[in-house]
Amino acid sequence: MHVAVLGGNGKTGRAVGAALARAGATAHPLGRAAFGDLPAALAGADAVHVIAPNLHPDEPAYVATVLDAAVAAGVDRVVHHSVASPYAPAMPHHLGKAVAEDLVRRSGLRWTVLQPCAYVQNFVPALRSGGDLEVPYAVDTPFGLVDLHDVAEATAAVLTTDGHAGATYELGGPALVSVADVAAAAADVLGRPVAARRTDPEAWRGEGLDAREQEWLRAMFAYYDRHGLPTGPLPLAALLGREGRAPTSLRAALARDLAGTS
Ligand SMILES: NC(=O)c1ccc[n+]([C@@H]2O[C@H](COP(=O)([O-])OP(=O)(O)OC[C@H]3O[C@@H](n4cnc5c(N)ncnc54)[C@H](OP(=O)(O)O)[C@@H]3O)[C@@H](O)[C@H]2O)c1
Repeated sequence: MHVAVLGGNGKTGRAVGAALARAGATAHPLGRAAFGDLPAALAGADAVHVIAPNLHPDEPAYVATVLDAAVAAGVDRVVHHSVASPYAPAMPHHLGKAVAEDLVRRSGLRWTVLQPCAYVQNFVPALRSGGDLEVPYAVDTPFGLVDLHDVAEATAAVLTTDGHAGATYELGGPALVSVADVAAAAADVLGRPVAARRTDPEAWRGEGLDAREQEWLRAMFAYYDRHGLPTGPLPLAALLGREGRAPTSLRAALARDLAGTS
């Protein structure tokens, strides 16, 4: 089986490509360059996995371009990488994904939508560099933090097995956890103290991000501050369970990804 993976060279896309290879499928990663002639780039694919770039200014337009190209290329199966709680109008990048989901469902293709929570791996660089966890939102609000490797395995299962047409799967990790829980699990794994601190959102500066990206992330932090991003665990458990696997706990994901770090 041959899967075209839009955004396949990014953090999510590389993990999905590796999981597809483990499932015996071939992943064809496509980035910006493929948009020159997308139908040609999709020709011969059995399925398309659509991962929009992080904070894309117009995710519905990006997804619409891919859907049109998939139709033109005769690819009839599409899996869209969305996010948990996409219809959260206070967060513009979530809302873009909600609108994109609607396009996917009305595309005429055989579609599946995946709604992962934030990845455990988002915290790994700070922990690897020996620091504490400092975030501009509350450290005790609940998240369904999910292991990116589990998301990738579930995505590969959805792309390579039948029974997922018309399904929307929220993908949360096995327990609701807070940033304080991440710090505690990391301290246990690393054998050193790790503190979790809320920093002043007004003082947050997004290095290297343009004004619009900073504004969208500030909106996300404000939402996280009040609500976190709780996400249900059962669809991920069911998808991995069909492959004989259980979702990875926060501690196990950190132990694997922080191996060799002190
Ligand atoms: N991080 C999380 O916790 C999380 C959780 C849930 C959902 N998500 C979602 O997952 C998605 C992917 O995130 P990621 O961190 O894996 O992304 P990423 O590492 O930033 O990679 C995205 C890829 O998109 C391509 N790209 C960049 N700009 C483009 C453009 N203008 N047009 C076409 N392609 C472009 C790039 O390919 P080339 O460099 O090859 O051109 C890049 O490899 C995002 O939509 C994000 O919201 C993330």
